[in-house]
Amino acid sequence: MCRAVVRWAVLATMLTMPLGACAQGLLTNIAHRETTSLNGPWHYIVDPYETGYYDYRRQPYDQQAQPSTSAFFSNHHPADRQELVEYDFDTSPTLNVPGDWNSQNDQLLYYEGTLWLKTSFDFVAASTGNRLFVHFGAVNRLAEVYLNGTKLGVHEGGFTPFNFEVTGIVRPRGNFLVVKVDNSRRADAVPTISTDWWNYGGITRDVTLIEEPAAFIRDYAIQLKPGSAHTLAGFVQLDGAATNEKVTVSIPELGVEQASAVDGNGLARFELDAPAVRLWSPGSPRLYEVVVKTARQTLRDDIGFRTITTRGADILLNGKPIFLRGISIHEENALLGRRAHSEADALQSLNWARELGCNYVRLAHYPHNEHMLRMADRMGLLIWAEVPVYWTIAFGNPATLSSARQQLTEMVTRDRNRASVIIWSVANETPPSDARNAFLRNLIAHTRALDATRLLSAALETHAEDEVSVVSDPIGEQLDIVAFNQYRGWYGGTLHDAPEARWEIRSGKPVVVSEFGGDALQGLHGKRDERWTEEYQEYLYQQNLKMLQKIPNLRGLSPWILADFRSPRRLLPGIQDGWNRKGLISNRGIRKKAFFTLRNFYRTVQPRDD
Ligand code: GCU
Repeated sequence: MCRAVVRWAVLATMLTMPLGACAQGLLTNIAHRETTSLNGPWHYIVDPYETGYYDYRRQPYDQQAQPSTSAFFSNHHPADRQELVEYDFDTSPTLNVPGDWNSQNDQLLYYEGTLWLKTSFDFVAASTGNRLFVHFGAVNRLAEVYLNGTKLGVHEGGFTPFNFEVTGIVRPRGNFLVVKVDNSRRADAVPTISTDWWNYGGITRDVTLIEEPAAFIRDYAIQLKPGSAHTLAGFVQLDGAATNEKVTVSIPELGVEQASAVDGNGLARFELDAPAVRLWSPGSPRLYEVVVKTARQTLRDDIGFRTITTRGADILLNGKPIFLRGISIHEENALLGRRAHSEADALQSLNWARELGCNYVRLAHYPHNEHMLRMADRMGLLIWAEVPVYWTIAFGNPATLSSARQQLTEMVTRDRNRASVIIWSVANETPPSDARNAFLRNLIAHTRALDATRLLSAALETHAEDEVSVVSDPIGEQLDIVAFNQYRGWYGGTLHDAPEARWEIRSGKPVVVSEFGGDALQGLHGKRDERWTEEYQEYLYQQNLKMLQKIPNLRGLSPWILADFRSPRRLLPGIQDGWNRKGLISNRGIRKKAFFTLRNFYRTVQPRDD
């Protein structure tokens, strides 16, 4: 479909959509594209009263006031000594982007509300006729994006990427990109009002200017065809291409190539037989250079191929039963007390997980930055990836469901070529109800439609029946893996008799305990029945591990949690001080005694050839 037609088509679509809500197709594999980084110091203005929209001084106070030229996104400067303008980005302080504002300015540690950020740049395209896009790895939580005073659009969701086309808006000099960020929590948002993590606000991941040819490779997927160990299948999505434009997918190292032609929507599907392919696994994280090519563009990626299925109570990686030796991880650099965003941050967390003896990590409770996924591909760590459908979501609200579906789509679109991702999770600890069950069933169907090559799960609820702990959540019937969180010895239940506790999981599917644990202040020592000591946490792990390994279908664990993390809900002075202390590693990077308990357990669980 040529661009002129695309324009009319897009315009027609927009006529049926609220203006500014028009989501634009996500560009994937930013890492290997022609890009210019817009990371660095951005000027910012804190705006709790939303002053940045209007300038009431220029017109009588009026609820219908129209944005004037001195609204913040116009980056206006006084035309003369008389003009009243009460803001100036260029003399305002700066924040590093990517980066949350909470950890960069003590006055903003607890700030929730609107903050405007601006960067300026010059840019000359390598070739006229090319198309330009601005891409954000993530903005928490509600972003309004303006370039040179033009509103590009909005994006809601604090942990997934988005982009806007800026062809024809970028000029050679003096561009100014303004982003209004609002991290306010809302009951109808995803996540909702209450979470047990810090509400880091800001442009929390990389910002990139991307230059593409007029017809370019926007997205593609390539994975082993379900049921095959050497036939690869997938699609290539071009943007702006004419019908029947040719595209080839090749893997030079395997000597395979497949050419196909796109349809009227720029889509080409393909299959590729690669008998010599060596499968990816934690023990052998084999990545291949995949080359997607059109007449105008060559895009490379590093992709691993593996199968992940279940058979009865077993999880099969490349057809072999595997036990998931895991740990849960928040997207936080614990040593610096900030949202993690860099490759170095990813390496720190995943090296700690590997030191623990893990072959698997649960990226809680939202999609992490892409560095984590690509690093896990390289290191050979399996991943549980999750959207923040967390606790008491507004399950009856259609807009809430739409936001959850959008975030799922963005997560799967970005990560479906990452071999490390084996599980998509649609929820964490959501209280069962008819509305919640309908909401989750909708997300499960949506995810399966997006990606039929991975397993689905969710951290489900448990309940007690007499002396027996029971898992019988109806949603388990729609999932491939039944997972649940339990906190015996911390939020109830005793430890001395935990190994004798009885569990009943009413499902024949593989079971993963997605959370268990307890707090310990690193360096606080005492008897094992003294809460908050390292000895208590160590004993809690010893007793829970004895209890849980008696569960017949147990095929994985991701205890809560790798490292202490910030939470506004954790307020005990001298012990928590705004930190959740369930980490096996403190926020000074010191391993607690329970770290070694879990590491020793993992050394007994599985031969290390997986
Ligand atoms: C819950 C929840 C976590 C939380 C943890 C805790 O299960 O899933 O996000 O941090 O328990 O209470 O520490």
